Amino acid sequence: MDRQLALEIARVTEAGALASASWIGRGDKNGADYAATSAIREMFDSVPINGTVVIGEGEMDEAPMLYIGEKVGSLIGPEVDVAVDPLEGTEVVANGLNNGMSVIAIAEKGNLLHAPDMYMQKMAVGPALAGHLNLDDPIELTLKKAAHRLGKSVQDLTVMILKRDRHSEQIQTLRSSGVRIKLLDHGDVAGAIVTAIPECGVDLYVGSGGAPEGVLAAAALRCLGGEMQGRLMVQNHAQYVRCTKMGIQNPERLLSMPELVGNSDIIFAATGITNSDLLNGVRHLPGNRVETHSVIMRANTGTVRYIRSVHNIPAKLKYAAGMN
Ligand code: FBP
Repeated sequence: MDRQLALEIARVTEAGALASASWIGRGDKNGADYAATSAIREMFDSVPINGTVVIGEGEMDEAPMLYIGEKVGSLIGPEVDVAVDPLEGTEVVANGLNNGMSVIAIAEKGNLLHAPDMYMQKMAVGPALAGHLNLDDPIELTLKKAAHRLGKSVQDLTVMILKRDRHSEQIQTLRSSGVRIKLLDHGDVAGAIVTAIPECGVDLYVGSGGAPEGVLAAAALRCLGGEMQGRLMVQNHAQYVRCTKMGIQNPERLLSMPELVGNSDIIFAATGITNSDLLNGVRHLPGNRVETHSVIMRANTGTVRYIRSVHNIPAKLKYAAGMN
């Protein structure tokens, strides 16, 4: 994939973040999601790819835009899989809380797992622990292995997990072990990615969250040299059938990086809507200007770019009107 695409994809996540930022704290998660989805859908038209959404807003009959199978991009360019979450953290943005982002990953066609909308058990780590842990180990053993590998004590580890009732036993075990715990309200894409960004000070992400979010985080972790291991949590026969229809045989097996995100080049971009450990959120500045913070990564080169953009809204609108 052409490296110029990285900036193009970041322009798309910027559009999603800018659009949904007007909905911060308004208590309307559907409004916020619709704004981000429409902006992203429109901006995609200018990107020179022949893309197919493999992770998006849902099935064709339940999502008007960015549904699974929808073609996106100018359709002239490389054939790519597109994983998109226009608004990762709908509740977060609706309630003005932290960790809202617009996120996109693209990879050569056939590389990204078509993850159904169900829970996935996850474990994410940065480069120092990649290849050294196993999702199936008891958590106590995982912590011991991680501490040994990192040359520190278990009490010196920081572990991230979503604060959910379903995690109460796991959180209790973590507490008994003495690790530091960062409990996330929402937004486990950022939660998993920060394990591979040393400045964020998180060693391990564990627990269950959305499977599509697991693939998006795995895409970023591949660019960063980290690792995600996952297991789909199939809860009934209908979900089992759905997995097999989406091409996932033996859905409850352990999914490793090649199965989650393949081996091709990947471009990952995210723009903050509200603040997170990974990115600052959208800020409205004097003079009708709006600031966004994005991160762009590429697997082939491992380059990670942080972009602070200041958008002049009246000029942007005038330019867009002139284009129509
Ligand atoms: P949405 O954007 O779909 O609201 O997802 C937010 C999120 O926190 C994800 O980051 C996470 O994977 C998932 O929800 C966890 O689901 P649940 O809130 O049901 O535990």
